[in-house]
Amino acid sequence: MRKEIIAIDGPAASGKSTVAKRVAKKLNYKYIDSGAMYRAVAYYMLKNKISLEDIKNHLDEIVIDFDVANNVYLNKQDVSKELRSEEVTNLVAQVATIKEVREKLVYLQQQLGQEKGIVMDGRDIGSVVFKDALVKIYQVASVKARALRRYEENIARGITSNLEQIEQEIAKRDYEDLNREHSPLLKASDAIEIDTSTMSIDENVQEIIEIFRKKVK
Ligand code: C5P
Repeated sequence: MRKEIIAIDGPAASGKSTVAKRVAKKLNYKYIDSGAMYRAVAYYMLKNKISLEDIKNHLDEIVIDFDVANNVYLNKQDVSKELRSEEVTNLVAQVATIKEVREKLVYLQQQLGQEKGIVMDGRDIGSVVFKDALVKIYQVASVKARALRRYEENIARGITSNLEQIEQEIAKRDYEDLNREHSPLLKASDAIEIDTSTMSIDENVQEIIEIFRKKVK
């Protein structure tokens, strides 16, 4: 069967990466987390004390790779855990507003997509990176549902957190992602919207697989 591209976009914590990974596994496709690439740039800035104004002059120093288990490597070092830190999460949406950062990462994402057979999640995958993707999903959920998911994830990981604070952080990141000048979070005109507020992960995965199967027919 021909290999295709599945683009899954949507706001923070709408369940994109969990379902994207499962969809990729079911189809024997590769999963690529585009958000991790923006996080890697944010982490590089924090580590090397580079400002938002100056990062465009350092982009050539940054090499990002993934391995088959979806670990993320920044200049050959596994930084998968570090990319999930609060400092990185708080900085990343601002880093993602910088035109030069986006140009570099979109180019890398398009290179990774050349071999097809991929599921990529992010904010602008269906609208900018792969405008001709066969399947475009725009996944949403209420801020409350998304905050609760993050909160429960944290509990499962043994991390104490504050539900209200998570809600505020998600709302802030939504605002930044929706209102930036370059490639804001946007539903592509041909994307299919899925509201996951009251959906289980299995139902969500099943729905995307069905959409995919209908499209390949
Ligand atoms: O998906 P994740 O929450 O890890 O993404 C982190 C941040 O990276 C997002 O809040 C957004 O600002 C940025 N991003 C983006 N475009 C993408 C993926 C992520 O701007 N395709």
